[in-house]
Amino acid sequence: MVMASYARVVGRTGLAASFLLIALAAPSSAQPAASLSNDDCFGCHADPGLTRADGRSVTVDRAKFEASIHGGLECVNCHVDLADTTELPHPEKLAKVDCSMCHGDVVARYQQSIHAHARADNPDSLAATCTDCHGTHDILPSSDPASRTYHLNLPQTCERCHGNPDIIKRGHIQIGNVATLYNDSIHGQALTRSGLLVAPNCADCHGGHDIKRASNPESKVYRANVPATCGHCHEGVLREFEESVHGTALAAGNPTAPACPDCHTAHNIQRAETVAWRLDVIKECGTCHVESIRTYRDTFHGQVTALGFTRVATCADCHNSHRIFKPSDPRSSVAPVNVVSTCQRCHAGANANFVKYDPHADKENHTRNPFLYYTARFMKTLLIFVFGFFGLHTGLWFAGEVRERRRRRNGSA
Ligand code: HEC
Ligand code: HEC
Ligand code: HEC
Ligand code: HEC
Ligand code: HEC
Ligand code: HEC
Ligand code: HEC
Ligand code: HEC
Ligand code: HEC
Ligand code: HEC
Ligand code: HEC
Repeated sequence: MVMASYARVVGRTGLAASFLLIALAAPSSAQPAASLSNDDCFGCHADPGLTRADGRSVTVDRAKFEASIHGGLECVNCHVDLADTTELPHPEKLAKVDCSMCHGDVVARYQQSIHAHARADNPDSLAATCTDCHGTHDILPSSDPASRTYHLNLPQTCERCHGNPDIIKRGHIQIGNVATLYNDSIHGQALTRSGLLVAPNCADCHGGHDIKRASNPESKVYRANVPATCGHCHEGVLREFEESVHGTALAAGNPTAPACPDCHTAHNIQRAETVAWRLDVIKECGTCHVESIRTYRDTFHGQVTALGFTRVATCADCHNSHRIFKPSDPRSSVAPVNVVSTCQRCHAGANANFVKYDPHADKENHTRNPFLYYTARFMKTLLIFVFGFFGLHTGLWFAGEVRERRRRRNGSA
């Protein structure tokens, strides 16, 4: 009866108040001594040796329970099948605790998650339930540094499964081990090593209760939603990205437009100055801009970066990293009005004449670079001629040599 009224009044905001309400309502209840007290339960369950018939422990740590956020509750507030009885021993098998009695709003959100869906499809799924992330009798509020869901502790909580090869395999987690990647990333390092509270943990990007697959358009990490998720912290970058040619294409639903993880990855994000990453991004631009990287690789800049050096211009040095526009757009760093100052960042003496140099000169493209095209053709023809001539020469010379030797051998025999 008490539980029924409790369940009805409890909402997200009214938890503490309704908790008081129980305390007030309990003594005036019709059957005051109808249930066992916590002391009664602990009479047996504080015993460290108390086990089920099969040997599994049923001990409850009294100190931990009382220090938990639920320490003020009656055991029977959660174990409701013992709420209206004082009979002992109680049944061996008791109902599962239903957190929704008091946390209806959170449970409703959880029901939308991939973890809940996986369990609904398969009751033996290893997907996370409330107790996997929060515990049972030792639950602490997320603001408590000892809580499993405290900002700095949460990655370890997810990693118990998402960093465990056995669970990844048996639990059909498709993406594999992201924990190691995350821990090595700038975000993971900032969180675990520097203890930086503003560095993102798993829940900042995925949510805690409403975690969804990346392919679900409602997911925080769905392609089109990622910029806003990252931009929650990187607001300045988000603003630049949103107006860029890539950002507008992504917002317009262009499935080939890049989102933040295309260039930065999702879990293995590195500091932007890292040489290896800067070289990787060139290849990443090239996976979509196949022609541009081909012509870039023919230039001095492209050949030097191919050798592993970043002193020369990468794509982003000329085009910017986030404020990328079509060259015809006056906001573009390579638009005719801006290109001189872009080259001047490294070539102090650059002027209008210098920038006549085409960074995407294409020796295959007759209309774009006629001079280069014919020069390249000339060089190719010359090359074929030279190799052809010397090849023929060597061949004839070799044949002559063989004939000469055979003649000499026959002569001496
Ligand atoms: C007389 C001792 C005793 C008392 C008092 C007692 N329990 Fe138990 N409880 C046990 C034993 C023994 C088991 C293991 C039953 C088994 O599986 O054989 C158990 C098992 C349980 C289980 C596990 C049930 C399951 O389905 O696995 C829960 C939950 C539980 N008790 C809750 C309580 C609560 C809440 C109270 C107080 C309202 C309480 N117990 C009072 C002895 C007691
Ligand atoms: C906030 C709700 C809540 C309260 C309050 C609570 N329990 Fe539990 N208890 C659970 C959950 C959740 C489980 C895990 C099994 C399940 O999901 O039903 C559990 C499991 C148990 C078990 C089975 C062994 C185990 O640890 O899995 C025992 C025994 C038990 N509780 C005893 C108690 C006793 C005694 C009290 C009071 C001191 C108490 N519980 C208070 C939520 C609660
Ligand atoms: C108790 C183990 C467990 C814990 C803890 C856990 N997960 Fe999962 N998670 C799973 C399993 C198993 C699946 C696969 C469900 C399926 O599709 O069958 C999954 C699926 C996912 C998916 C969907 C992608 C996929 O490969 O199926 C995401 C995203 C995810 N979890 C994120 C998290 C985050 C973030 C945390 C921590 C806040 C977390 N999980 C905690 C077990 C866990
Ligand atoms: C995959 C891990 C995970 C699972 C599963 C999970 N939680 Fe949480 N929970 C979190 C994280 C992380 C936070 C703290 C950050 C936040 O507010 O989102 C949190 C916060 C909470 C809070 C306090 C803040 C709030 O949002 O009201 C409550 C209450 C809560 N969880 C209850 C539950 C219940 C009940 C379930 C089961 C339906 C559950 N959680 C399942 C990770 C989880
Ligand atoms: C009988 C009601 C009741 C049940 C059932 C219950 N809780 Fe709670 N829970 C509370 C109350 C009351 C608070 C304290 C709220 C407050 O102080 O704001 C609380 C707080 C919490 C918090 C901390 C919220 C925060 O501010 O960070 C978490 C996490 C939590 N509960 C998880 C659970 C989980 C998981 C279950 C199921 C195993 C559960 N609760 C079952 C009543 C309940
Ligand atoms: C900085 C944001 C960010 C952080 C932090 C982060 N993730 Fe992710 N995660 C993503 C993005 C974005 C994706 C989408 C896939 C992609 O683009 O590679 C993703 C994908 C996933 C997937 C696969 C989802 C699917 O449906 O395929 C899982 C599982 C996952 N993350 C778990 C975690 C866990 C566990 C942690 C913490 C150890 C974590 N993530 C931390 C952004 C993040
Ligand atoms: C097309 C590739 C690409 C995309 C998409 C992209 N970035 Fe970047 N990002 C870069 C490059 C290249 C740099 C390095 C700039 C440099 O050379 O210093 C960078 C640098 C950064 C930096 C470091 C600060 C800085 O500007 O140097 C942050 C933070 C960042 N990006 C976040 C994001 C976020 C958030 C998104 C999504 C809204 C995003 N990036 C999308 C390529 C990209
Ligand atoms: C909860 C806030 C938060 C979220 C969400 C977040 N980041 Fe970060 N990010 C940070 C912080 C804080 C740092 C700085 C860490 C340091 O310098 O040690 C950082 C650093 C970076 C860097 C390196 C910057 C540099 O100066 O070299 C990049 C790149 C980056 N984040 C990209 C992303 C991308 C992409 C996403 C989304 C997938 C994302 N971040 C989501 C907080 C966040
Ligand atoms: C030295 C500076 C420089 C570098 C390095 C550079 N570009 Fe360009 N890019 C330009 C200029 C200037 C234009 C506009 C003039 C033109 O069309 O030739 C341009 C044009 C483009 C265009 C527009 C289409 C086109 O070909 O006209 C794309 C796409 C492009 N670049 C991508 C890339 C990619 C991808 C990389 C790296 C693999 C890269 N650029 C490296 C300067 C550079
Ligand atoms: C995931 C694919 C993808 C990646 C990675 C990518 N781009 Fe793009 N880029 C596009 C698409 C799609 C457009 C065309 C948008 C439109 O026109 O609506 C575009 C447009 C451009 C344009 C304007 C082209 C024009 O037509 O004038 C430039 C310049 C450009 N990107 C440079 C870059 C650079 C530099 C990088 C790496 C830092 C990069 N892109 C990475 C997909 C990508
Ligand atoms: C990030 C710096 C950087 C940017 C931006 C840059 N370059 Fe370069 N470039 C270099 C370096 C370093 C070399 C190596 C030779 C040197 O030291 O002068 C080089 C070499 C060259 C060369 C061949 C060697 C020579 O000096 O004749 C040409 C041509 C050239 N750049 C043109 C351009 C043009 C045109 C632009 C602007 C569209 C540009 N570069 C932008 C760094 C840059």
